[in-house]
Amino acid sequence: MQIPEIHSDYRPIERILVQAHAEKLLFAAMEMQLFDALRQPATAEDVAQKIACPVLSTRRLLEALQSLELLDFQDGKFVNTPTASDFLVTDSAAYQPKGIHFLSNMYQVFTSDFTEVLRRGGYEGPGVEDWDGGEGHWAEKGTFEGMGSYALCGPIQDVRNFVMDLPGLSSMKRMCDIGGNHGFYSMALLETYPELTSTVCDLPHVVGPAQNFYAGTEFAQRLTTRAVDLSSEDSFGENYDLALASHVLYYWVGQLSGILHRVQDALRPGGWFVTSHFLRDPKEAVSYDLAFVNLLASLSGCKAHFIEKDALAAEFEAAGFQNIRSAEGADTGLLILAGQKPD
Ligand SMILES: C[S@@+](CC[C@H](N)C(=O)[O-])C[C@H]1O[C@@H](n2cnc3c(N)ncnc32)[C@H](O)[C@@H]1O
Repeated sequence: MQIPEIHSDYRPIERILVQAHAEKLLFAAMEMQLFDALRQPATAEDVAQKIACPVLSTRRLLEALQSLELLDFQDGKFVNTPTASDFLVTDSAAYQPKGIHFLSNMYQVFTSDFTEVLRRGGYEGPGVEDWDGGEGHWAEKGTFEGMGSYALCGPIQDVRNFVMDLPGLSSMKRMCDIGGNHGFYSMALLETYPELTSTVCDLPHVVGPAQNFYAGTEFAQRLTTRAVDLSSEDSFGENYDLALASHVLYYWVGQLSGILHRVQDALRPGGWFVTSHFLRDPKEAVSYDLAFVNLLASLSGCKAHFIEKDALAAEFEAAGFQNIRSAEGADTGLLILAGQKPD
């Protein structure tokens, strides 16, 4: 055996292998309702008793969850961080386990045979046909529920607050939700603006199942659908006070002009177009989180999963939008950018 000379650090590799299992810890803790046991500070012994596990391994699990920023530790007791309190305690209004499992499943679809997927340059396989290209999954109830639940964990609230600050919309009556899918963005605004109705514009095969999904909600009467393929010349309709597009324009970065002009046509004079996407600040290094979603986006036929603010603002201006304004979601990594159709 030859013992190699080592002049570098092996730990980045070790870290990757260890962190790959963080999701398992989270899911086990959720299954045992561990976060319910930590609404108030508790010792490892207390928690062990509540989740029916041995004390030592419970303590080690709690320490691991602390390092993952889900728990704090003070005076010998563990307690939920605000993130865990909001999203992982079962009676919290923001508890959205379907959103967590949706993201996890989607990542697994891509990564389960990753070398092959990378070589092919995209995902196509059993279960989910052509993840983004064939778009079959966009019309599934599990997608409406999962992606909608994920959107309820901050993005929808950021967008609603942004819209509420826009001038001239206080008594708005008509909006369209482009690529609206689950309709939860629309529903949040329908709840806020009592006279508002919304039209979800989505791919032809998505709108039927989407309408059935909305039928089970209190907003069924005020939420309609319209089949629109953004890659075609389909119209979004007309005379809207507000058009919204969340996580959809990144497919067309660099070639948005046609879509932006059609949105202009669909708005009343003075109406607003609000967009929401992941933000990439070109001055900052790309984080692992963003690099990973960009990689998956590239395997779905998009250049990236984010939109740069200056580039988007320039496209808005070139299409004739005025009063461009933007905000960054405090905890969501979102760029919300809007422009107004001239009066
Ligand atoms: C990532 S999802 C975003 C859903 C929702 N707006 C949100 O932010 O949670 C993208 C949506 O765009 C729709 N979409 C994709 N390609 C489209 C196209 N060519 N025309 C219209 N809608 C499209 C999909 O069906 C899906 O509903």
